[in-house]
Amino acid sequence: MKLIFASGNKHKLQELQQKLPSTIELTSMRDAGYEGEIDEPGATLEENAQIKAQFIFDRFGEHCFADDSGLEIEALNGEPGVYSARYAGPGCSFSDNNQKVLANLKGKTNRKAKFRTIIHLIYGNLNHVFEGAISGTITDDLRGKDGFGYDPIFIPDGHENTFAEMTLDEKNKISHRAQAVQKLIDFLKSR
Ligand code: IMP
Repeated sequence: MKLIFASGNKHKLQELQQKLPSTIELTSMRDAGYEGEIDEPGATLEENAQIKAQFIFDRFGEHCFADDSGLEIEALNGEPGVYSARYAGPGCSFSDNNQKVLANLKGKTNRKAKFRTIIHLIYGNLNHVFEGAISGTITDDLRGKDGFGYDPIFIPDGHENTFAEMTLDEKNKISHRAQAVQKLIDFLKSR
């Protein structure tokens, strides 16, 4: 069975390929023949994941899925949320985004936050949505060198280290993305 991932991210593709049964032939949108980027005009993670999956389905008519993730901070009314990648503006770095979060949270006692991943699958014309989420708190300073994005400022509940102070294996056991991916895999295995 062929399954197209509406993403150009090679790391995500590799990680998924390892976890999927060999009966599923995972293909990136690039290998399927789409070289461009897909706009993400949605106001929510759910909308963006759906828009990207639908775009690829309309083009190729094959089983396909897309993902969208973000960090939602309670005291910032859910920001950066859907704008997580570009929170500090066009062309910003991970460090710019982290500094903006810390500045916006300065003096605030509520440091609660949540990482969420939405996977939108279009499978034989039907839509399926899988969600992974992990709650935690935002630190006062950057901590740790591993990972990416907001990893240095996020401590998952029940842990003392930030995601950036954990090994990739430790993070992948609990992360929002790993949880959503597991739900996708369980669904595909049950077909
Ligand atoms: P994407 O939808 O997976 O590309 O994620 C969008 C943005 O959310 C990324 O550019 C990061 O800023 C942030 N993000 C998503 N997942 C993570 C994570 O596991 N750690 C840190 N930041 C993340």
